[in-house]
Amino acid sequence: MALKITVIGTGYLGATHAAAMAELGFEVLGLDVVPEKVGMLAAGRVPMYEPGLEELLTRHVTGIEGSSGRLRFTTSWDELEEFGGDVHFVCVNTPQKHGEYACDMSYVDAAFASLAPRVKGGALVVGKSTVPVGSADRLARLLAEHAPEGVDLAWNPEFLREGFAVRDTLHPDRIVVGVDCERAEKVLREVYATPIAEGSPFVVTDFPTAELVKTSANSFLATKISFINAMAEVCEAAGGDVVKLAEAIGHDERIGNKFLRAGIGFGGGCLPKDIRAFMARAGELGADQALTFLREVDSINMRRRGHMVELAREAVGGGSFLGTRVAVLGATFKPDSDDVRDSPALNVAGQIHLQGGQVTVYDPKGMANARLVFPTLGYADTALEAVRGADVVLHLTEWREFRELDPAVLGEVASRRILLDGRNALDGTKWREAGWTYRAMGRPRA
Ligand code: UGA
Repeated sequence: MALKITVIGTGYLGATHAAAMAELGFEVLGLDVVPEKVGMLAAGRVPMYEPGLEELLTRHVTGIEGSSGRLRFTTSWDELEEFGGDVHFVCVNTPQKHGEYACDMSYVDAAFASLAPRVKGGALVVGKSTVPVGSADRLARLLAEHAPEGVDLAWNPEFLREGFAVRDTLHPDRIVVGVDCERAEKVLREVYATPIAEGSPFVVTDFPTAELVKTSANSFLATKISFINAMAEVCEAAGGDVVKLAEAIGHDERIGNKFLRAGIGFGGGCLPKDIRAFMARAGELGADQALTFLREVDSINMRRRGHMVELAREAVGGGSFLGTRVAVLGATFKPDSDDVRDSPALNVAGQIHLQGGQVTVYDPKGMANARLVFPTLGYADTALEAVRGADVVLHLTEWREFRELDPAVLGEVASRRILLDGRNALDGTKWREAGWTYRAMGRPRA
């Protein structure tokens, strides 16, 4: 009989995981404490913008015509208990604590506290949330105390990227499982039999290593981005071109050409808070020196936002932003997402606004979330409307829509034709040919 699976927490990670588990043939119950979220998911709708996820959901959610009916959602822990799952995936979020670097474990702790007395004997609980190393050991002790006999724990970090969540979940580039017994490994091999058969590497570790794989992977990615952004700073000082530099070093297979796009840096709900939580945890473990370089990674990254503000200030005459109009293209932390958490684009827009500039933002999918975070910014319904009357245009999230804009048409409505490319993603030649002053970060001025 196919395993019965529950997924606790239905954000980006959980909603995608639940739908993917149904796609793999399991009977799945997703639980979240937010009734609105559950209501939407139960109707086959996704509370965030994630390409392909709605299609996957509607293929499986119970009650939708033509669906497999293998996927249900609930807010009720009693229903979860009745469901009698064999495997329970904990996918709740672990945000940064207010006023501290450490990560807030309260959602994970609450999920385990509710789950422990409700799982059936012999079930497997699998943590997927990004947690400080040492958490799995602690949570295993909690289960031993509060769950029935024979309930094991595994730690199975998730590496999905927003915008590619469905593909990354169904076809992971690796599956990492931290276990302390053979049975847990066996059950997870059964859960992931399809991707394993397709060739996804299956890496078995102990608890701390599995937890560390996740935070070290994100730290490496953050370091790679800050490295190229540091090179951008040097290029600007020396008159070099960071885009050419990245292309050239990327041909070395040991370096690779991915994650070397210089610009206004990384944001989102993961990389910034993960490197900070990692530093905080290393400090608790007495290993803080090992991660002091991450402070520099963070500081290079945050400097990029300030640098973009200064480039914009220079573009509007070098003094105050008062009385100037600034168009901002992009609000999300990256394209193909509606997520504005710690978004460099919105941060730059906000800084300029707070310094007196009249900022108008347009983003293809992030407007509603941006309005919630920054209600005092101006918002336009199209890129053209955002650019109308602008003294400078800032390209801050590299949506395809922006690459397809016609610089000549925008030039007609802009007050001055100055474009600052904060993502090194537009075709500078095309913009210059249409009469724009095009300036990109870490590249020579033309
Ligand atoms: C990141 C990791 O890439 C995933 O592997 C991980 O599972 C996820 O965090 C997580 O921990 O849940 P994500 O936050 O979706 O995924 O975004 P990324 O694609 O990593 O991009 C992060 C930021 O870096 C974005 O703001 C992006 O614009 C920026 N970036 C990326 C650059 O500035 N330059 C680059 O070359 C690449």
